[in-house]
Amino acid sequence: MDGNGRWAKSRHRPRLFGHRAGVRAIRPVLDAFHERGVHMLTLYAFSTENWRRPDDEVRGLMTLLGETIDRETDELHANGIQIRAVGDRSRLGERLQAKIRMAEEKTKANTAGMLNVAINYGSRHEIIEAFQDATVHGVSSEEMTEEILSSYLYTRGIPDPDLIIRTGGEYRLSNFLLWQAAYAELFVTPTLWPDFSPTDIDEALAFFAGRERRFGSTSEQVDASRKEKRA
Ligand code: FPP
Repeated sequence: MDGNGRWAKSRHRPRLFGHRAGVRAIRPVLDAFHERGVHMLTLYAFSTENWRRPDDEVRGLMTLLGETIDRETDELHANGIQIRAVGDRSRLGERLQAKIRMAEEKTKANTAGMLNVAINYGSRHEIIEAFQDATVHGVSSEEMTEEILSSYLYTRGIPDPDLIIRTGGEYRLSNFLLWQAAYAELFVTPTLWPDFSPTDIDEALAFFAGRERRFGSTSEQVDASRKEKRA
């Protein structure tokens, strides 16, 4: 959800003003994706590197996260959406951790859609922790497989993303879902997150629909397997 700071700056307002606008952008985006048949989304709300930001911005973001969970959980639950936080929550305040647990517990049986929120998330840290955790559970380095490692990531049970959308125009992943995004299509838009609208979503989905997903195979093999499926 990149670009909140620039959005605020262009209005001569503090960065938190941009983050608040960023939160307001979330609901219409979720609804628009839902209407278009996309029922699983992961939002990158706070990275392990974001602790380096000024104290008041970090505090403000943590407060916003808590307030947003309080305000939105019931309606997401009523719409059958499962909420999950991905990231190292041990460094978050006790109250925020409790809110996250409450939202996850309340919505855990929902099946209409899934909203994952990456909070204190960093992919490299996630992969190292997953490896260590697997070792603690008795998995030897010889036994390690992609499936086993995946089952120790914060995203266990969540399918890998098909499409990563980066707002704000930067062409990089910034430590986001590095393992899981191995075959994701990447869509970068200069639109700043608070301005991200259904038009941008349509553009992203049109881009995705135009991609040939080969997963390492050749175009000919992809065509042949499509024909086989049709037959
Ligand atoms: C990146 O923009 C945005 C963030 C680091 C924070 C995003 C978090 C929220 C909007 C709160 C979300 C709450 C929930 C519950 C999902 P930036 O500040 O890096 O923008 P810039 O690149 O323009 O400076």
